[in-house]
Amino acid sequence: MKIEKTLRSRIEEMDFNNIVFGNQYSDHMFCSEFKNGEWKNSIIKPFGNIMFSPISLVFHYGQAVFEGMKAYKDENENVFLFRPEENLKRINRSATRLEMPNIPKNIFLNGLKKLIDLDRDWIPKNYGQSLYIRPFLIATDGVLSAKPSKDYMFMIISTPADTYYKHPLKIKIEEKYSRSASGGVGFTKAAGNYASSFYPTRLAHEEGFDQILWTDSSTHTMIEESGTMNVFFYLNNKLITPKANDNILSGITCKSILSLAKKEGFFVEERSLNVSEIIKGFHTGELKEAFGCGTAVVVNDFQTISYKGNNFLLPNIAEKKRISFYLKKKLLDIQHNRSEDPFGWRVLLKRDL
Ligand code: PLP
Ligand code: COI
Repeated sequence: MKIEKTLRSRIEEMDFNNIVFGNQYSDHMFCSEFKNGEWKNSIIKPFGNIMFSPISLVFHYGQAVFEGMKAYKDENENVFLFRPEENLKRINRSATRLEMPNIPKNIFLNGLKKLIDLDRDWIPKNYGQSLYIRPFLIATDGVLSAKPSKDYMFMIISTPADTYYKHPLKIKIEEKYSRSASGGVGFTKAAGNYASSFYPTRLAHEEGFDQILWTDSSTHTMIEESGTMNVFFYLNNKLITPKANDNILSGITCKSILSLAKKEGFFVEERSLNVSEIIKGFHTGELKEAFGCGTAVVVNDFQTISYKGNNFLLPNIAEKKRISFYLKKKLLDIQHNRSEDPFGWRVLLKRDL
């Protein structure tokens, strides 16, 4: 792999005391091209603009998939990736569904590790902070016909990250719009899934909500996920999350929380979850907590859930007594190398690879 280091690092411009998600990008980026059926020209170079033909398929037919992952520091500034092979598997599931080539393991992992090693100074040091890493794959072929591209570009960029939401969320159960449909691409990280959520999310913002809780597209009665989060409900003394299906993105954070919760002795259920169970849980007082989780968000409590114009308030439990807080800490402790890693999730990034 070719490595072209920047001649002028921008790290001095980075304000680590005021980290705004996506505001500043690390010095370098990784690129690899897929041409004539082969991956070639892998390179790490200074972060900067890229140029493609205006007829590149990505601009017209949305052949684009991406990932979200993080690198963390421990107190001695060792750097760890969290379950990177899960992101590789998922970007390739997404790519397959969008008729794009799979990214070979060595290109994904070597590119990722070298890039993050080179930009390790961009990883914030504090607990809960991290470097958010964005691998993405786009169709670059310049033909206007509506057919899959022959050429693609795989890239990785990164941005320092702190707490994504600064408060518990007000959530609206969506009954009109849908994020995904059975047989569609909801289980992938296709860029278009996000584009199509922006309009209904803006309407929800205008009504005073932070995020939408998506329901199934045919009956709007089954709970799916929210914003960029999988969701958990602590209902009838069980931690319940909708089982991932082809409408729901199978979250790596969600899978990790499930493993941790089981290990910690919680009763855990992954199953279909009806909106009526949640509403009943509010009435009986059996719904104690609800929260979302994802790479960018980590774990974030819900404060209210609104359904058919009624706002239901979750019980006001002190933060440190919440199950969400307990599980979030367990997860962050593993990510920041503050605890044992019984599941083998951490990947230490060696220096000067
Ligand atoms: N659901 C959606 C739609 C997302 O964008 C994300 C974020 O990546 C998640 C769920 C959570 O997935 P993960 O925990 O792998 O980040
Ligand atoms: C992630 O959590 O990795 C995401 O994809 C969220 C991002 C869209 C901000």
